Amino acid sequence: MKKVRKAVFPVAGLGTRFLPATKAIPKEMLTVVDRPVIQYVVDEAREAGIEHFIFVTGRNKAVIEDHFDLQFELNHTLAQRGKDDQLAKLQQMQPRPGQTSFTRQQEPLGLGHAVWCARELVGDEPFALLLPDMIMQSETGCMKDMVELYRQTGHNVVAVQECDPAEAHKYGIVGQGGSIHHGFEITSMVEKPKPGTAPSNLYINGRYILQPEIFDVLSRQEKGAGNEIQLTDAMLTLKERQPFYGYAYKGRTYDCGSPEGFVEANVAFALWRADINGSMAGVIEEMLRTIKPRGKRIA
Ligand code: UTP
Repeated sequence: MKKVRKAVFPVAGLGTRFLPATKAIPKEMLTVVDRPVIQYVVDEAREAGIEHFIFVTGRNKAVIEDHFDLQFELNHTLAQRGKDDQLAKLQQMQPRPGQTSFTRQQEPLGLGHAVWCARELVGDEPFALLLPDMIMQSETGCMKDMVELYRQTGHNVVAVQECDPAEAHKYGIVGQGGSIHHGFEITSMVEKPKPGTAPSNLYINGRYILQPEIFDVLSRQEKGAGNEIQLTDAMLTLKERQPFYGYAYKGRTYDCGSPEGFVEANVAFALWRADINGSMAGVIEEMLRTIKPRGKRIA
């Protein structure tokens, strides 16, 4: 069985749900506490044993490449000023030379198309796929547990979580079959099912381990929901030939592609940090008591 060595991060989306913040800044570079959203996702992949990080970028996303580059002058200045803690923090998150690759999705034709753009960089081996606007919070990273399930099964693995059944039409939803190791067999998949037709309330939360045959399927994939090339549609076709397993993630997931999810992530990760939890918890309580909404409520 081939090891999962590479991870793909599709970062070419337009981030329209987060305008005007994302007009000039990629949503993946918005900051949760003290680091950009993309850093959390890369760290999750690294914890899972990933050795090569592939970014599918687009226009206005060059700053992501800069973030993962070595800033020699900055490191030198921090060292000279004796700011060892800051320097150590930067060094810890720095990919080693040759560990990152960048390719461009020239048009945002959908997630499936973005993944297909990474085909040459991935080659003929299984790979992890992490949607960078979804960030996870748990003691063990979601991808690390998925790699373990992949080791046990040797097949495609998709992480899922429960959603309110009334919200199922907003997500990619899977049907649940029998248990296997610490996952279950996936019986069906559907992207944004019509209300009342979802096979379950288990939504795909943005973490996948896929076999390279997905690229063949994607190269022929027609546009689907939202007039975009949908990854879920391609996975459904691949499922006719290869098994898919579900991993039920029990941690918390924040959708940083939307303002609400992003604010939630900031509060949650601030409360998670021992060095700022004390002051934050008090401030949040005081704010809840004293700040009242202004203007019209949006349903
Ligand atoms: P989203 O639909 O959440 O991202 O795609 P978006 O299109 O940027 O967001 P909105 O809806 O306009 O606010 C999930 C992930 O897939 C990437 C996005 O960058 C995001 O990480 N993606 C999406 C691409 O890389 N290319 C695409 O064509 C579409």
